Amino acid sequence: MNELLNLFEVERAALARLPVGARDYYAGGAADELTLRANRDAWERIAIHYRVLRDVSVRDQRTKILGTALDWPVMIAPTAYHQMAHRDGELATARAAAGCGTALILSTLSNYSIEEVAQVAGRGWWFQLYVYKDRGITRDLVARAVDAGCGAIAVTVDAPQGARRERDVRNGFTFPAELPMSNLLPAGERYSRPSLAHGGFMGYVNEMLDPSLTWRDLAWLVAESRVPVLVKGIVRADDALRALDHGARGVIVSNHGGRQLDTAPATASVLPGIAARVGGRAPVLVDGGIRRGTDVLKALALGADAVLVGRPALWGLTIGGEAGVRHVLGLLRAEFDIAMALAGCASINDISADLLQPS
Ligand code: FNR
Ligand code: LAC
Repeated sequence: MNELLNLFEVERAALARLPVGARDYYAGGAADELTLRANRDAWERIAIHYRVLRDVSVRDQRTKILGTALDWPVMIAPTAYHQMAHRDGELATARAAAGCGTALILSTLSNYSIEEVAQVAGRGWWFQLYVYKDRGITRDLVARAVDAGCGAIAVTVDAPQGARRERDVRNGFTFPAELPMSNLLPAGERYSRPSLAHGGFMGYVNEMLDPSLTWRDLAWLVAESRVPVLVKGIVRADDALRALDHGARGVIVSNHGGRQLDTAPATASVLPGIAARVGGRAPVLVDGGIRRGTDVLKALALGADAVLVGRPALWGLTIGGEAGVRHVLGLLRAEFDIAMALAGCASINDISADLLQPS
């Protein structure tokens, strides 16, 4: 796989290998996929006004987000069903993350269980929570994740309703019946084998997840959790501030990789306003279309503390399991290192807004 020189080449190789249902589920977005494309375009449009003569002989990329130490400011976004990409599933992703100095945010909808992943995930991993209508199940997921050692919980709030992803509709896509949602096994077949009872992700969301969630439920979750809670799926500064006011310790600027509300804004376009209003009170993370080391640098310059990558990890898994995810992370990290050097940044603290708009 060393001949695959960047994340786009890994993606192409993975797309060629996956069966159509899984491929379109992973790659696709909602409706016209305008937000999916806009996420990517927005990073591409930003120029870096690099600085020169700054002694960049040593580059320090380390950071710490809510107590989780990262060797570089990139985490793996939560994505469902890693075993559709590779039989080692989330175990491979978690091992690769740990081996590459970063952390996995494990999806509620993983094929391997919280406890199985925790065993191999090393010192830092987080849990992504979907809030079920059944609060007993929700509470149980939180307790299990905390007991297993997760460093934080990211509660996803941009999916009160399953979006219509037309690729999935066209393919009649359902999650493969032989792959369980292991975290939901204790709750029973209905929760853990969505393909038996429902059609695909949309049906599952609509039947199981709670569309009545409000800010009051966030306060409930914060009280319920012994680890910091972040809110994932924010695209507005007022919502970011409301999240912090209700006890969240951080926000993830995200439109779910263009998979939920189509025509939602590109994350790069809303990040600076949100980061400015949060004003350092709490970490601000961002995801959506980050594929190059320069994108990571731009995100930090726009005010993010770290970024997440979603699909690239799935493409890495597809081409080579743990080694494939390591390859993806290695490429991105090397690109980020080069970008820092060429932009005149010896430390991530040097990555400031004026790199994008010099005064
Ligand atoms: C996701 N995403 C997601 N988010 C979440 O909170 N819980 C989940 O289970 C999933 N599942 C999921 C599956 C697949 C196949 C994709 C592509 C995405 C959204 C994910 O966390 C993230 O926000 C986006 O993937 C980021 O965009 P990129 O990096 O994929 O462009
Ligand atoms: C998705 C869900 C699992 O985007 O978040 O498919």
